[in-house]
Amino acid sequence: MAIDIAKIKADALKGIEASQDSDSLDSIKIKYLGRKSEINVYLKNIKNLDSEERAQLGQETNAVKQEIKKALDQKIKETREKEVSERMTKEKIDITAPGKKIELGSLHPITQALRDTRRIFTSMGFYVVEGPEVEEEFYNFDALNIPKDHPSRDLMDTFWLKNEGEDDSLLLRTHTSPMQIRFMEKHNPPFRIIVPGRVFRHEATDASHEIQFYQVEGLMIDKNVSLAHLKGILTHFLNEFFKKDVEVRFHQSYFPFTEPSVEVFMKLKGKWIEVGGAGMVHPNVFKAVKYIPPGPDSWQGFAFGMGLDRLVMIKHDIDDVRLLYGGDLRFLKQF
Ligand code: PHE
Repeated sequence: MAIDIAKIKADALKGIEASQDSDSLDSIKIKYLGRKSEINVYLKNIKNLDSEERAQLGQETNAVKQEIKKALDQKIKETREKEVSERMTKEKIDITAPGKKIELGSLHPITQALRDTRRIFTSMGFYVVEGPEVEEEFYNFDALNIPKDHPSRDLMDTFWLKNEGEDDSLLLRTHTSPMQIRFMEKHNPPFRIIVPGRVFRHEATDASHEIQFYQVEGLMIDKNVSLAHLKGILTHFLNEFFKKDVEVRFHQSYFPFTEPSVEVFMKLKGKWIEVGGAGMVHPNVFKAVKYIPPGPDSWQGFAFGMGLDRLVMIKHDIDDVRLLYGGDLRFLKQF
């Protein structure tokens, strides 16, 4: 069974010449040089011819096969190069460009301050506890010796969530002090805790007022705890927090859940700045949590509540509290 080797060669070379992409060159390769191609099938079959004829036809056919292969390889190489350079211009890959920098995030200044606060107070033996942001009226007000009709309830500008003034009412806590009650209901003294957390007040916002902010509550109950301890502890905390020596001063003040009550000031760069409220825990608060009634054997201790946002603003020279809650990366990337 003879084949027209000249025609095969002409067809193959024409096909290679006309091919524009590697896919069509691949099919040409299979068609003319593959295992089932006319040439290879023929070469397999000529074993049956007598030896002289076989040698001649074999040589001829193999020569054509090599020629096709050479032309094909050359064209494949050219086509691949062309395709790669086309793809590169289309995708605009600049292989000489430097790699993309991975941007590192940073912790929000309040998160940093919360971490510092925990670290400093735990180093003085305080436990850190947290309480619910959605609170009951009983814990936020009643148990803290704030009577129903007391004007200080109005001062707190409460966000009511449910049934204001009724037994099953719910609100957003206006301070972290409710956690004093929750903790004392479940634990007996002596102990010292801090309660960092977010609190809410329903008021107009401006550079120094937000509807949400952070407080750090503190409570230390033992047999012989006084305001002198409170002063020492707060002074140490503020020294560590600001990494500078600060002076602390108390001003007499009023809170229904402490007696006596004080406002805490610190002196920084020659100025007295208010940082929170404090006092000795009021006997009515101990009564609400069923601790031993007042007497020589009773417990005593102090509570304080500091505004964390205020401390952050002083530390970083921030003049508008709203920046802390705006989520503006231009601001946040500075920390
Ligand atoms: N809870 C008070 C406030 O938010 C602060 C405070 C806490 C005062 C503990 C005394 C004792 O203003």
